[in-house]
Amino acid sequence: MCGIVGYVGSREADRVLISGLRKLEYRGYDSAGVATIDGGDIKVRRAVGKLDNLVGVLSEDPLSGSTGIGHTRWATHGRPSQQNAHPHRSGDVVVIHNGIIENYVPLRERLISEGREIVSETDTEVISHLIDMEMNGRGGDLLDATRAALAQLEGSFAVVAMSRHEPSRLVAAKNATPVVIGVGESENFVASDIPALLDYTRDILFLEDGELADIRDSGVQVSTFAGKRVSRATKRVTWDPVTAQKGGYPHFLIKEINEQPQALIDTMRGRVAQDTGDVLLPELAGLEDHIKRAERIAIVACGTAWHAGLVGKFIFERFARTPTEVDYGSEFRYRDSVLTDKDLMVVISQSGETADTLAAVEAAAERGTPVVAVCNVVDSSIARKAEAVVYTHAGPEISVASTKAFTTQLASLYLLGLFMGRLTGRIDAALEAEAIQSLVEIPNIIKRTLVCEKEIQRIARRYAGAADMLYLGRGINYPIALEGALKLKEISYVHAEGYPSGEMKHGPIALIDENLPVVVIIPWDEVYGKTMGNLKEVESRGGRIIAVTDRADTELRQIAEAVIEIPSTSTSLMPMLTVIPLQLLAYHVAVERGTDIDQPRNLAKSVTVE
Ligand code: M6R
Repeated sequence: MCGIVGYVGSREADRVLISGLRKLEYRGYDSAGVATIDGGDIKVRRAVGKLDNLVGVLSEDPLSGSTGIGHTRWATHGRPSQQNAHPHRSGDVVVIHNGIIENYVPLRERLISEGREIVSETDTEVISHLIDMEMNGRGGDLLDATRAALAQLEGSFAVVAMSRHEPSRLVAAKNATPVVIGVGESENFVASDIPALLDYTRDILFLEDGELADIRDSGVQVSTFAGKRVSRATKRVTWDPVTAQKGGYPHFLIKEINEQPQALIDTMRGRVAQDTGDVLLPELAGLEDHIKRAERIAIVACGTAWHAGLVGKFIFERFARTPTEVDYGSEFRYRDSVLTDKDLMVVISQSGETADTLAAVEAAAERGTPVVAVCNVVDSSIARKAEAVVYTHAGPEISVASTKAFTTQLASLYLLGLFMGRLTGRIDAALEAEAIQSLVEIPNIIKRTLVCEKEIQRIARRYAGAADMLYLGRGINYPIALEGALKLKEISYVHAEGYPSGEMKHGPIALIDENLPVVVIIPWDEVYGKTMGNLKEVESRGGRIIAVTDRADTELRQIAEAVIEIPSTSTSLMPMLTVIPLQLLAYHVAVERGTDIDQPRNLAKSVTVE
């Protein structure tokens, strides 16, 4: 997720910008840049990689000036490169941006046809061109020009613009991406997040969606995109810098769990045309014929991404009726697998660097099998080697345990499944309409699901002393039982097993006694009765049942020690909801046990070795 910092005052702007960007490093980035108004002109310095590279560039080629903007970029459009790093300058204007401009392709074409030279691969560059063009038509007023440019944009953005003609002014705008203004004495600041400001001020003004801020050293004026003035008081923030990085949460993990509704909005942005029911995945252009004729899909992934792959099998088979197999990367690479040029491989990886998954991509290339990657990190090794990439747009995931990466992988697989269903003509129209409707509602439903946290905290206190736990689920929720068990193991170090409910009697039933909490996913679906039958077997052996359901009947309430009731959605999408309480349960058990939640022992975020 990109970091934004801006400054107007009397200090050396580049120092303020670099120190602010350092405080935003936790957000993840792949390149950085700053621009100041220096000697009446805009000067830009940019570098790929860590901030120290940018500091090196600045020491060789210094900047002066007391108005400036700075940015750390986490690539979404275009690979990490100096050319794609922000700030982007067009004519007399320079811009930094966080978010995604959905209509940047037609805007870019229009700008080129009007004689503008586009030099980067980013969506951001269209913003600087539009503001610069509007400046020419509006007597050089940066606020008016930015307002006119924003009216042409679709998507999410936090934008800060600076003009050569107005050296003590910044204009910031917000739409669905955070912007905070730091208010000082004869100096003001803007940033994407509070930690960047805490060394200078604790008086913060929060911009709302659809608002612009006109920032000068003498003061800040907020107005709406429509031009109405807004009066808003500042708030005094008392967070320490570390708490501020975590958005006020005690751990990145719980922050990321709570970020899931927004992450899913970002995954789906521009990809679902609700009026026509079309799923738009232009990234698959050129592969349509192959997808249509594919005789089989081979999904390959590791860990949590493999669990997403297991859900993917249900989706692909249900929506596109294409036979699908799921492999661990580490198993696939040494198995004498049958893979041909009539198959399609789908690999799933948050980091895009997992060695075993990467090996599968290389094996597919040797056999002429096209690969679609579902990936979070732009331009990662897997993204570069695959024929096509469906980016999950989850934003950087800092906690080692994957949460928002998982649900955005699921959403991407649903989009892919719906896309394939339409291409093959094998999806049932009613099922398609229901799935699309449910998918667009999911971010809001997850928001409502997160409300169960208080209840889960109580449950976690009760069961935190357990030595083992069993997780059960059926059908499309069986992978969620596996994921729930993995989350608990990873962060609380409690041994846990995930099992298909119907398999319990073939072995794990021997474990059941009064010391074994059994977490069961039991949505009100066509296998509710079957799962209830399994629960009776647990109850009669003294097992302690924790049920996750969207409808608790009297029978379930009688046999379960704890019931977590969540909202409902269509059966195919239920895994996106049932996983939420399991993430929260793992988190709160870990809190009770006092483990190192964001950096669990022995684990790495990205497993780049075999
Ligand atoms: O980056 P990847 O998605 O390829 O990583 C795969 C696994 O290493 C990862 O999901 C791991 O299991 C996580 N720690 C799960 O929380």
